[in-house]
Amino acid sequence: MNDLRLDFPATGRNSQAICDVLSSYLTGKTGDVLEIGSGSGQHALYFANNFPLLTFWPTDIEPHHLASIDAWQTEIGLTNLRPAKSLDALRAHWGLGLKGMAPETGLAAIICINVIHISPWALAEQLLQRAAHHLGADGFLYFYGPYKRGGKHTTESNARFDLSLKAKDPAWGVRDIEEVEKIAAENGLLLRHIIEMPANNFSLVLTR
Ligand SMILES: C[S@@+](CC[C@H](N)C(=O)[O-])C[C@H]1O[C@@H](n2cnc3c(N)ncnc32)[C@H](O)[C@@H]1O
Repeated sequence: MNDLRLDFPATGRNSQAICDVLSSYLTGKTGDVLEIGSGSGQHALYFANNFPLLTFWPTDIEPHHLASIDAWQTEIGLTNLRPAKSLDALRAHWGLGLKGMAPETGLAAIICINVIHISPWALAEQLLQRAAHHLGADGFLYFYGPYKRGGKHTTESNARFDLSLKAKDPAWGVRDIEEVEKIAAENGLLLRHIIEMPANNFSLVLTR
C-alpha cells in the first residue's frame, strides 16, 4: 500500500456520474485535457482510464495532493496520464506550454470539479478568462459542484453547506450559475448545458 495516495470518498462516489456526462463530449476525441484542482487524483485516473485517446494533465496547489496524484499513477501506470503539476489557478498566467505543462492552446477540455466554491470567486473569474485562451476551437470548460440558480439555493442542504463554507472562509461559498454565465459571456464563452447531477450538484458545460 502506497501511503501517499489519498482517497476522497465523495470523489469515489461521483466519478462514474461525471464520467457519463463527459463521455457525451469526449468519447472518440483526441487531444489534451487539463484538470484544475485535481485533489487526490482519483478523477484524473478514472477519466484517463475511460478516455484512452486523450492525454490528461492533473494540477493542484497542494503539495500533498500532487504527491497523491503521482502515487496513484505509480500504482496504476496509465500511459495517457501526465505527472501532476503545481498550478495556482488564481495566477494571471498559468505557465502552460512550458516544459512539462499542458499545451498553451488548443486544449480539448478544461475540467474543474468541486473547486470554485472552495476558493475565492476570483478563481472562477480567472478560470473563465484563461479557458477562453487555452481551449481549442471546439474545446469546452467543465464545472461540477453545488450551485445556486437565480440567486437561490436549490436545496436546504446546499444552503447549510454554503453557510459552513463561509464560516471557514468568507471568500468561499456556493456560486450562482447565472454569475458563472455572466463572466463566461464577458470572456466569449457560452453556457451550453446545465445538467442536474446526484446529491444536488450540477454539471456546467461551456464552449466558445
Ligand atoms: C474539494 S477539493 C476537490 C478535489 C477534486 N477536484 C475532487 O473533486 O476530488 C478542492 C481542490 O481545489 C484545490 N484548489 C484550491 N484552490 C486552488 C487554486 N487556487 N488553484 C488550484 N487548485 C486549488 C485544492 O487544493 C483541492 O485539491
